[in-house]
Amino acid sequence: MSDYKFSIEAIKVNKIYNKKDKKIDALNNFNINIKKGSIYGLLGPNGAGKSTFINMLGGLVLKTSGSIKICGVDIDKNSKLSRTKIGIVPQELNIDPFFTPIELLELQGGLYGVEKKNRKSEEILFNLGLAEQKNSYARTLSGGMRRRLLIAKALVHNPDVLILDEPTAGVDVELRKNLWHYIRKLNKNGMTICLTTHYIEEAQELCDYITILNKGKIIKSDTKINLLNLIGKKTVRFILDKNYPIPNKLEVYEASIKNKILTLSYEKNKVDLKIIINILNENNIIFKEIDTYENDLEDIFIDLIKNE
Ligand SMILES: Nc1ncnc2c1ncn2[C@@H]1O[C@H](COP(=O)(O)OP(=O)(O)OP(=O)(O)O)[C@@H](O)[C@H]1O
Ligand SMILES: [Mg+2]
Repeated sequence: MSDYKFSIEAIKVNKIYNKKDKKIDALNNFNINIKKGSIYGLLGPNGAGKSTFINMLGGLVLKTSGSIKICGVDIDKNSKLSRTKIGIVPQELNIDPFFTPIELLELQGGLYGVEKKNRKSEEILFNLGLAEQKNSYARTLSGGMRRRLLIAKALVHNPDVLILDEPTAGVDVELRKNLWHYIRKLNKNGMTICLTTHYIEEAQELCDYITILNKGKIIKSDTKINLLNLIGKKTVRFILDKNYPIPNKLEVYEASIKNKILTLSYEKNKVDLKIIINILNENNIIFKEIDTYENDLEDIFIDLIKNE
């Protein structure tokens, strides 16, 4: 059981929510293999089904069909054991307001059967920058502090896999960078990380693997590097001396001219920039400057969602 390749393995998972008059396909034949030791991102817009999947792992949502294994343990056959393998940081900041951080962590440790001498509540709070607040009532904590407290809570039983549902939603830029740093550190120390996000930047910054989903369906699933190479498009801008009519030969490059700037996009593996420059020369179009830029995950994401 300890010898497994995938920390999370989902096969043909479906979830249909029955609302009064209609059915919602929250997940449709969802498959995922999260490699042990990776940082894996589930990226998708609101309502994509990200939390539905995360909550299945913790037993809060029951799947309609399909199978899921956590660290090789089937969640239906051995739900209790499977849950000890993971720590989940929920999307909602639901914290009992009348407990202090240290009390909450001790309580959680007790729930997971961590012996008192093995608990590391103080250390975890310190690592998350909550040492000063450890004896304050949770209701007095700011949103960012609550988010960190939820992460602390998920770490109490030292799980193999940490699952974070929108870890940096509503978190300021500095704290976001700190959390990324901390997540990377946990991963370096051997923890597998699975996070959901609708921030493309977060997925691009942090994840080794990304599954993009929309409306319950997987649109694309690959390594981040492959995804970034997927649309091998490059954008180039020429700064012109004046506005020109666009030559016919440039239309295939989605050319546009605005404020003396000619913008084109081309497949970097198929088209040599020289061809474009030759067309400009043939048409006596004078340019003063060229700049090119590689499309990033955001362009790919928008493209994929648009083509759905
Ligand atoms: N308890 C529920 N009852 C009925 N429908 C639900 C329930 N929970 C979620 N849904 C629906 O299932 C779909 C997926 O929701 P889910 O919360 O999984 O999306 P998400 O990707 O986490 O979105 P967000 O980025 O907003 O958190 C949505 O259409 C949502 O309205
Ligand atoms: Mg969600």
